[in-house]
Amino acid sequence: MHMIDIITKKRDGFELTKEEIDYLIKSYTKGDIPDYQISAFLMATYFNQMTEQEATHLALAMRDSGDSIDLSEIKGIKVDKHSTGGVGDKVTLVLGPLLAALGAKVAKMSGRGLGHTGGTIDKLESIPGYKVELSVKDFIKQVQDIGIAVVGQSGDVAPADKKFYALRDVTATVDCIPLIASSIMSKKLASGADAICLDVKVGHGAFMKTEEEAVKLAKLMVSIGKLAGKKVTAILTGMDEPLGHKIGNALEVYEAIETLQGNGPDDLVEVTLAIGSQLLMDANIASSNQEAVDMMNKALHDMSAYNKFLELVKAQGGDVNVLKHPELLLSDKKVEILSLKDGYITEMNALDIGKAAMRLGAGRETKEDEIFLDVGIDLHKKIGDQVKKGEVLATFYVRDKGVEEAKNLLLEAITIGEHQKSIKLIKRKIS
Ligand code: URA
Repeated sequence: MHMIDIITKKRDGFELTKEEIDYLIKSYTKGDIPDYQISAFLMATYFNQMTEQEATHLALAMRDSGDSIDLSEIKGIKVDKHSTGGVGDKVTLVLGPLLAALGAKVAKMSGRGLGHTGGTIDKLESIPGYKVELSVKDFIKQVQDIGIAVVGQSGDVAPADKKFYALRDVTATVDCIPLIASSIMSKKLASGADAICLDVKVGHGAFMKTEEEAVKLAKLMVSIGKLAGKKVTAILTGMDEPLGHKIGNALEVYEAIETLQGNGPDDLVEVTLAIGSQLLMDANIASSNQEAVDMMNKALHDMSAYNKFLELVKAQGGDVNVLKHPELLLSDKKVEILSLKDGYITEMNALDIGKAAMRLGAGRETKEDEIFLDVGIDLHKKIGDQVKKGEVLATFYVRDKGVEEAKNLLLEAITIGEHQKSIKLIKRKIS
């Protein structure tokens, strides 16, 4: 087989076979195909797209380029969720312990944040002592013992995707639905769960800016998952404003704790319950959506979800005492941002608010950047809220970095109008 023939076939709009995709991925991972040929292939794919079959072959070939976790020793149906990335998205921190408290098996590998979106692993690292690395053996044992483990990606998961992604990043080919779908699914399929719920974010703070694009991505990921023999569902949720009020690593742990104690913001609870009910039904723990929602509401109010979170943190070496006073995890230097006019909040550009948090040091612009875990933004107002001139719109938790820039970004990101507006959060389910 020759790479030039594969590029030509893709350039001319023909469908590649499993053998051709396997050859491409294996040879590229070994270093036998140069970046310039893969770059040409990526651009041809960008313009000509891929069929479901091709995207599935690509996802499976990338999954098989590295380690897959075998969770079969853990009894029961293992559940997992994945978010395509948002601002203030701390659903995993709430949903993982909530599902485990109800008897689901949550063996979760999460990522770090990049750009304006946060990552669960950075958030958990804001808890002193929390170890994000466990051996596969300890990871499995912890799920067997307490029903949940949340770690960073261990071993060499989908190395072909890492190489592909780095090249896509510099060849303007990140933004291509079959490449995104196969990239995400290669890692999800390698992490071994039986039932996966994908939270596909839509809106200006998300990868997918329109519902049409998000539906395409969701359908393709669901189809790849099913062709690979897994139960996969996608829920489209809005990213027209940040999720919840708090953005930044320790701040998001703080809000997750409030939610696990039954005092969470409505939007965060709504997304958590939507994904959770799907997974509880997939795991045969609930037989209907209503039953699942009732079980979850109970666990959020009787402290069983919160206690499971404490158990998780303790099992992974974290300081449980500090969680009783999560405000201790935040920078004690604060700046209040005041409204410049009266009215109703009609828009909150999540992308720019995520960037504002990044300028304060909560997120990374490049993979190598260091972040401050104790900084971020606490939004006092969300879309639909009334505000008066001089009232506090947000509190920044800061160090000596980026405050003016973040303030300008935040004020530009928030539109205050005359009429009250509401937005729809859960847009569609695809299964
Ligand atoms: N997230 C991924 O893991 N891969 C992509 O291609 C885009 C988002």
